[in-house]
Amino acid sequence: MALKFDQTTQNARILSVGAYRPPRVVPNSEIVDRIDSTDEWIQQRTGIQSRHFASADQSLIDMATIAAEIAIKRAGITADQIDSVIFATISYPYQAPSAATELLVRLGNTKAAAFDISAACAGFCYGVALANDMVRSRTSKYVLVIGGEKLSDFTDPDDRATAFIFADGAGAVVIGPSDEVGIGQTIWGASAESREAIVLEPSYLEYKNNPGKLDLGWPNISQQGQAVFRWAVYEIAPVALKAIEAAGLTPDTLAAFIPHQANERIIDSLAKSMKLPDSVAIARDIRTTGNTSAASIPLAMDALLIERPDLHGKSALLIGFGAGLVYAGQVVELPPKAL
Ligand code: UT7
Repeated sequence: MALKFDQTTQNARILSVGAYRPPRVVPNSEIVDRIDSTDEWIQQRTGIQSRHFASADQSLIDMATIAAEIAIKRAGITADQIDSVIFATISYPYQAPSAATELLVRLGNTKAAAFDISAACAGFCYGVALANDMVRSRTSKYVLVIGGEKLSDFTDPDDRATAFIFADGAGAVVIGPSDEVGIGQTIWGASAESREAIVLEPSYLEYKNNPGKLDLGWPNISQQGQAVFRWAVYEIAPVALKAIEAAGLTPDTLAAFIPHQANERIIDSLAKSMKLPDSVAIARDIRTTGNTSAASIPLAMDALLIERPDLHGKSALLIGFGAGLVYAGQVVELPPKAL
């Protein structure tokens, strides 16, 4: 017997964005001594000048709550109107219950559907893809998508390959109904043969299976920087072009490019490969925010809209890529000015 499913679809868009960066600014000068590096090397190789670190008593959920509350207020709705919460993160320190359900309690709406996704630096774009489909199929009316990380808890300050890259913060968007299409088709996938390129280990199970083996160390991120750099530069540009085409645009008709903030040289290389003209605004939040993985795109979106308020309501290509290796990109209409 055929089941019933309401076939009428509903267009979706990003209604608002909210961002939170912890107050402590950490310049390169605070990082370099422990890794035998220099401010000049870090700026030349990555574009990073400084980043924000949360304090020891400031949790991922503390940061996410502030970003979420800003986004909800700017959307002109209240927390109890949120139907679903999608929380993208790799630095929530519990397997269960989810970060999304803890956030629900903080927001005072304990009834919404809530779950986390683990897609690292592509997590926010994965969340946007899911939220778009949920609103389109009328599974939810308002979806809160959060990208949040406290990577300072999982980065070894003595690791020359990562200590200068990762940072803390949270960004959120509310996705809801729209008259027009506000989110283009997502182009996504994986290069899972490169799963070892970025890892956060050892796992909890390794501690259980190796009692007393203290040299296992604290779980920290490690990455094969050059291999990931090459993959990002060569594999992600075609994905970005497909996302632009799927949205019915061309690179020269985009208003903005808001990629994952991994390395300013990757951002420049992608822009060059796509032949983006100077008229396309490029988010370079990495300079003062570092690489905040799942949080980097909504944080960069918020910063770009503060710098360029004329971009509210204009088209932007979002593209995330990272551990897995996984990627996702879509063109969105940037949120309107807050009500
Ligand atoms: O967010 C998830 C996705 N992640 C990414 O997209 C990250 C992609 N990778 C990168 O952004 C870059 O690979 C890094 C920024 C991580 C590293 O930059 P790189 O240009 O690939 O550096 P490298 O590892 O090729 O090292 C180049 C040189 C070496 O010296 P020699 O052999 O040329 O003399 C290293 O020893 O730089 C040296 N080096 C450093 N020097 C000062 C490596 N790390 C450092 C350091 N400070 N921290």
